[in-house]
Amino acid sequence: MQVTILGAGNMARGIATRLLAGGNDVQILDRDAGHAATLVDELRAASDGRVSPGTIGDDIRGEVVVFAIPYVAVAGLIDSYGEQLADKTIVDITNPINATYDGLSTPADSSAAEEIARRVPASARVVKAFNTTFAGTLTVGTVAGQPLDVFLAGDDADAKARVAGLVEAGGLRPLDAGPLARSRYLEGLGLLHITLQFTLGTAFGSAVKILP
Ligand SMILES: NC(=O)c1ccc[n+]([C@@H]2O[C@H](COP(=O)([O-])OP(=O)(O)OC[C@H]3O[C@@H](n4cnc5c(N)ncnc54)[C@H](OP(=O)(O)O)[C@@H]3O)[C@@H](O)[C@H]2O)c1
Repeated sequence: MQVTILGAGNMARGIATRLLAGGNDVQILDRDAGHAATLVDELRAASDGRVSPGTIGDDIRGEVVVFAIPYVAVAGLIDSYGEQLADKTIVDITNPINATYDGLSTPADSSAAEEIARRVPASARVVKAFNTTFAGTLTVGTVAGQPLDVFLAGDDADAKARVAGLVEAGGLRPLDAGPLARSRYLEGLGLLHITLQFTLGTAFGSAVKILP
């Protein structure tokens, strides 16, 4: 499958690593062409040429599009890409943390994923994923020898199954958390997991895992 990642930061690296491990093609677009090229160079050895760089504004080639940028920047990109996002599966990975890092910036009766779903073309399907998995752990794929759990929320069963397939092919365990509105709890969990890094001193190396 062809996947486009918007952003070339830490999460782009982690998700691209898992997508390439799963045999997918990855297009990485950043507002700075040099940042995308640097990440692609880093990933190329393990990819048989299945990863390519570009600049935000280039045509989106993927049927799946991952927004690997801060939540505050997502609306602007949705608006500039407009109808190019029609029919796409949109993966929202954001944690919409507020400026003081002690709450969420989204309304209490909504979530980043739901706000994004309201903004994209009606035929685009939004799936929440990867917001509880830290970037460094995605690059490795495991914590304490266990594959990461990736919680998914979405209203479109086909889109959610498509993302679940990508997660599984990358060696991780997809867990269906329910409809898109469940993103409210996933984003709360993401915030809690971030907050616990300072309590536990785990330096963003821990994972949220459902056992057994
Ligand atoms: N880090 C984690 O462990 C983690 C875990 C779960 C979810 N997330 C979520 O993943 C997303 C990305 O986080 P990250 O850790 O990958 O951040 P990051 O390493 O700081 O990378 C941010 C990326 O977003 C781009 N960007 C920033 N502002 C932008 C704007 N106004 N317009 C267009 N692009 C912009 C940056 O572009 P430049 O390269 O040009 O600066 C960079 O490619 C965030 O929404 C975060 O909440 C992160």
